[in-house]
Parts: sequence; structure tokens; C-alpha cells
Amino acid sequence: MVIRGAGSAKTEPKGALRVGVIGAGVMGSNHARVLASLPHVDLVGVVDPLPAHRARATELASCRTFATLDELVAEGIEAATIAAPTHLHHEIALACIARKIHVLVEKPIASSVEEGHEIVEAARRAGVTLMVGHVERFNPAVAAIKQALKGEDILSIAITRVGPFPPRMSNVGVVIDLAVHDIDLIRWFTESDIVEVQPQLSSAVAEREDIALLQFRTASGVLAHINTNWLTPFKARNVTVATRGKYVMGDLLTRQVTECFGFKPDGSYSMRHLPVGHDEPLRAELIAFLEAVRSGATPAVTGDEGVASLAIATRCLDASTKRAVAPATHKGPRRAAG
Ligand SMILES: NC(=O)c1ccc[n+]([C@@H]2O[C@H](COP(=O)([O-])OP(=O)(O)OC[C@H]3O[C@@H](n4cnc5c(N)ncnc54)[C@H](O)[C@@H]3O)[C@@H](O)[C@H]2O)c1
Repeated sequence: MVIRGAGSAKTEPKGALRVGVIGAGVMGSNHARVLASLPHVDLVGVVDPLPAHRARATELASCRTFATLDELVAEGIEAATIAAPTHLHHEIALACIARKIHVLVEKPIASSVEEGHEIVEAARRAGVTLMVGHVERFNPAVAAIKQALKGEDILSIAITRVGPFPPRMSNVGVVIDLAVHDIDLIRWFTESDIVEVQPQLSSAVAEREDIALLQFRTASGVLAHINTNWLTPFKARNVTVATRGKYVMGDLLTRQVTECFGFKPDGSYSMRHLPVGHDEPLRAELIAFLEAVRSGATPAVTGDEGVASLAIATRCLDASTKRAVAPATHKGPRRAAG
């Protein structure tokens, strides 16, 4: 199936899926680079209103670029990845879905839960594939942790995702920008919904929250904790999971995953490193999206899952606002006594 805009009459080699990228910033350029390298994919072009960003995309992916979505659609595309700023996801996703174009929407799915629901409903009615770009699920270390948890009775999960301030500040804080990755992982590891949230947020430097300690309880009774901030001089992404039979530790950056098991009454236990793959997460994610488009199967990260994770992140922000977070007014250092 090839959907074309007015005036387009191209034929492509059988089997090559015609794909476009919308937004040529940090993520979109990478989408374009990866899509350009995939077999059976015809990267039709990249859309961005900024000439400099279009030039970078051409350099990275050797593809055509367009200033507007209409120009790309006129070339005929079957699928698109949306990597424009989050506040535009809703408008762009609906415009693509209305033309029966399958979409992968970067995380978070939208700026609000209502907008997210509208995207999901529109895709359902149009019968197009909608996947959300929770790329961390495709990190081989995360996949190894998920595999290690198979059949285990999970008790608690702790995730640390910290680092320095991003070079370009967007209009969202750490909860929507970073913690939403881990909210998705907690829901995915436990295969259960988060039913209780206990957020502690603070804005030490930025206008929005730049420190968040989030605690959750899932419907299945798992306790989970996310520690995230933009105030750490180096990046760290660590996951630990305690189950009745194991303790699993994963470093998502070095991709080392270790499990402790065989706990004995005398306190001794065994330990082993788990095999971890080498795939580039974004490549694996885009392949999964294209496979879902081709087969019509449920995509690896559904729109409903994207909305559910955004809803929990939003609840953390709302709960914190209601408590009128005191530290937001305190910008100076808090010195430890002694
Ligand atoms: N999955 C991840 O790990 C991950 C990481 C970073 C960002 N993201 C998500 O990707 C999205 C983009 O983030 P980014 O860091 O690449 O931002 P960015 O600011 O680097 O890029 C956004 C690009 O969209 C372009 N743009 C603006 N309006 C547009 C329009 N109407 N049509 C097409 N393009 C338009 C901008 O010119 C810019 O080039 C956000 O939703 C963000 O949350 C996901």
C-alpha cells in the first residue's frame, strides 16, 4: 500500500517501504541515519522547518529534505517517524494518521494524556500502526534484565537515571524528559499498572523540576523507585531488581548485567554475568516498528502503553503541584552541618 499526495506517481521496488522522518533535530537525524541504512526501506525524506537542520539530515542520511509535511506526503510515504518537539506530536500524528500513514511517535507520546488518547483513538479508527519510541526497551541490557526476570516473583525495582543538564533546555522537566523512560520500564518489567505514586520533586537550578525521587506501587504489589536528576556531572543509568529468588543489577550504559542467585541460609550466594547483545537500540526499535507495519501485528510499544506511562508521569507532577513543593523557592545550596 502506498499513500500518495496529489501529483505524485512514483513506483518503488517491490518490498521497499516508503518512510519519512518528521523533525531533524537530535533524535530525528538519528532516525534518518538508521532508516537510510536499513534494507527494504526507502527513506523518502526528512521534514524540518530549519534549513540548517535539513542540511545536517542530508549530510547524515544522504536523503532529500522538505520544509513541510505536505511536501513529504506529496512524495508518497507509507510510514513516518515523528521526532518533532513533543508539543507538536499530537498535530503531526493526527495529520499523518488522517492520510493513513503508519506512525512511530517519539516518547513521550504527547504533551498531555488527552492528546495521547486522541492519537491512539485516531490510529485505531484509521487502522494504522501506532508505536511509541520508548527506545530503552530495545537496549540489549534492558532486554537481558527482562529475560532474567522471566518467571520470577518481582519484589522491588530501583532505577537511577542521572546526568548533567541537557545542552538545549526544552520546556519540560526531568519527570517528562527522563523518568518517563523508567516508568515505562517498571510497567514493562512487572507487566502491571502503577497504582500508587509518591513523588518528591525539586527545582534546584531550572524553572522546571530538575531532581525527582519517585516511588510507586504496582497493581501486582511491586515497589519501585526512580532517582533522576540533571545535577550529576556524569551520566549514569542503573537498574536493580529484587525478586524472591534473584537480585539483578544492570548498567544500561556499559551494558553489564549481573545476577545474584541461589541464596543460602548461611548468607552465601552465586553470581553470574548475563549475556548481553550489541544491537543499537534505535536500530532495533525502528526495525520492530517497520515489522509491525508490514505484518499488521501489535507493535512492541503500543499507543496505549505510551499514554499509560505519560499518565503516571503527569500524576507525579500533579501530586507534587498540589503539595506546593517547598524546595522550588529555595535556590541556594543546602549546606550540611559539621
Ligand atoms: N527516545 C529517546 O531517548 C529520546 C531522546 C531525545 C528526545 N526524544 C524525543 O524526541 C523528540 C525530539 O527531541 P529532540 O531532542 O530531537 O529535539 P530537537 O529540538 O533536537 O529536534 C526537534 C526538531 O523538530 C523540528 N521541528 C519543529 N517544528 C517542526 C514541524 N512542524 N515539523 C517538523 N519538524 C519540526 C525542529 O526544527 C528540530 O529540528 C521529543 O519528543 C523528545 O521527547 C526522545
